[in-house]
Amino acid sequence: MKLVLFTLALSLALPVAAESIGDQHPIFDGANRPENINKTGDSSNEVEVLHWWTSGGEALSVNALKEMMEEKGHKWKDFAVAGRAGESAINTLRIRALSGNPPDVAQIKGPEIQEWGTLGFLTNIDDVAEEQRWSELVPARVSDYLKVDGHYVAAPFNIHRVNWLWANPEVFAKAGAKLPQTLDDFFVAAEKIKAAGFIPLALGSEAWQETTLFESIALAVMGTDDFRKAFTEHNSDLLTGEKMRETLLTLRRMKLYTDADSPGRNWSDTTSLVIEGKAAMQMMGDWAKGEFLAAKKVFGKDYVCIPAPGTANQFSFNIDSFVFFKNSDPQKTASQKELAKLILDPGFQREFNRSKGSIPVRVDIDMTSFDPCAQDAMQAFLRAATTDNLVASLSHNMAIGRASQVALFDVISRYYNNDEVDIDETMRHIRAAVLADKL
Ligand code: BGC
Repeated sequence: MKLVLFTLALSLALPVAAESIGDQHPIFDGANRPENINKTGDSSNEVEVLHWWTSGGEALSVNALKEMMEEKGHKWKDFAVAGRAGESAINTLRIRALSGNPPDVAQIKGPEIQEWGTLGFLTNIDDVAEEQRWSELVPARVSDYLKVDGHYVAAPFNIHRVNWLWANPEVFAKAGAKLPQTLDDFFVAAEKIKAAGFIPLALGSEAWQETTLFESIALAVMGTDDFRKAFTEHNSDLLTGEKMRETLLTLRRMKLYTDADSPGRNWSDTTSLVIEGKAAMQMMGDWAKGEFLAAKKVFGKDYVCIPAPGTANQFSFNIDSFVFFKNSDPQKTASQKELAKLILDPGFQREFNRSKGSIPVRVDIDMTSFDPCAQDAMQAFLRAATTDNLVASLSHNMAIGRASQVALFDVISRYYNNDEVDIDETMRHIRAAVLADKL
């Protein structure tokens, strides 16, 4: 079943590669079987790391890890693949794994960790977890994602909140608009900002950015319970019901407040519009804060963070993690485990998360040296945990696996980019998309 799922994801994401595999076997042809992968030729203390942290803020954050690895005498071979919040990186990873040459380390998260782990690709890192007492330091909601059959196979960096709104207070002041608490407030502010000659909503029209916006609207319109019932329990009535219709209508209405150059623009160039005072708002996860910080912008004066309208009590979480591909060289395995250990190092947790925009994944990190957005995020996380308002992110691979993710991006993007696309048909396609993982 997992093989079927993985193959389906491959065929959706990689039509060319999937065709060339042939009919004999869904994925493996022998040399590329996980147990036969015996990488040689690269130096054994070198770890090749595939990730998608390429924006200004992201690169600064991951460089700290690279430096720490090198200080410990290991070599970091960077394999960064930019684009589409990891979709391009994951497609590259599949090609490498299928040809029997996966990298040593890769950025994978959410249910996809299970998909790779169940196929036998990933190294067991229970010894690192035990040495660092992860079971005491990492919230159970997080560690559930890191294990396959009860064994740790992934090292977590952080907790990102997806449902944020980033705003430029000067643009708001010039337009005489108020920061929106609700969706109705959003449209009142957007009208004023538009009339004052600014872009109300900065959005890069890429499928994952459109789906990130869809997610924040859905959380507000549907509320936590119905959102979960729809997207994790696959409740058919909710997936095709009135609240879903309202979510989709709101998404189309928001499009009226984006700019003509939106199609294809990447997320960090989109954040720059807010940084430069051309746009008033962006609804994006808190990795956007990394861009404000990298541009030396000051909280309160140059930018502010508020929960996405209507979602103050909710916390849509997104956890970044690295997995470690099996190999037959004990020295390389030792380098991989050293990397896993550094990720949870308290000093690294502080430094990385302060520049990345997320909050630490360790519960024992003192937050006093973090900025107000991170402190708010931590409060919101704790509050949401006690009020049962923590929600696995739909658009960032936490609620659904790769097959559903690819299908959902496609449906939302088709709807968003073409006003002729029928809303009832879109709802039926959303229902089919979230079920794609089960095929
Ligand atoms: C990742 C973040 C990353 C963002 C944009 C998200 O899916 O979790 O770490 O900064 O994509 O690249």
